[in-house]
Amino acid sequence: MSVASRRSALAAWLAAPALALACAHAPAQVTVEEVPPQRELDVPYVPTSQAVVEEMLKLAGVTAKDVVYDLGCGDGRIVIAAARQHGARGVGIDIDPERISEAKYIANRVGVTDRVTFKVGDLFEADIGEATVVTLYLLPEVNRRLKPKLLRELAPGTRVVSHDFTMGRDWPPEKTVRLGRDTIYLWTVPARR
Ligand SMILES: C[S@@+](CC[C@H](N)C(=O)[O-])C[C@H]1O[C@@H](n2cnc3c(N)ncnc32)[C@H](O)[C@@H]1O
Repeated sequence: MSVASRRSALAAWLAAPALALACAHAPAQVTVEEVPPQRELDVPYVPTSQAVVEEMLKLAGVTAKDVVYDLGCGDGRIVIAAARQHGARGVGIDIDPERISEAKYIANRVGVTDRVTFKVGDLFEADIGEATVVTLYLLPEVNRRLKPKLLRELAPGTRVVSHDFTMGRDWPPEKTVRLGRDTIYLWTVPARR
């Protein structure tokens, strides 16, 4: 997607009713950095719809006590919604600097910079130990590669929510919610053996 069309998509997202009020007094200019990713993406950028974002946070039972990590955060919409609507703290990690630039811009526009952090980085190398909720919209094979890291580094009781893709047969989800053509899965990290 070109920078021009990303700008207009961002402008449309910012004009959505839930965000319009928060942005009413903010400056109108959109700045998107054009810096190439550190390496090839494991997953292409496809944003989760706002309805699915809200359902993911609801399924995870996110509250103000949570620290929500979105691994491959795109424009940061899941982390930003967790902060705005549930008062949670959030961290978004994406390998594409353009996405992180957008996420920081939006977080600033909607006034949640005190509760969210966005970092350029590889999700397989990220330090995720403080998360109480992890959100994913990746691919089946990427989820399966990520699973050992989640089970090793996340505290027992941490909730993992994935949009559309499972963790493979040996870690079945405990809840599944369908929303139109989308599916959301929930797991809880078990106690260590
Ligand atoms: C399908 S999008 C999901 C975006 C966001 N989580 C959402 O649900 O709207 C996947 C994102 O993962 C990022 N990504 C791909 N490979 C990555 C990696 N190895 N480390 C971090 N981010 C990655 C892409 O840049 C893209 O923004």
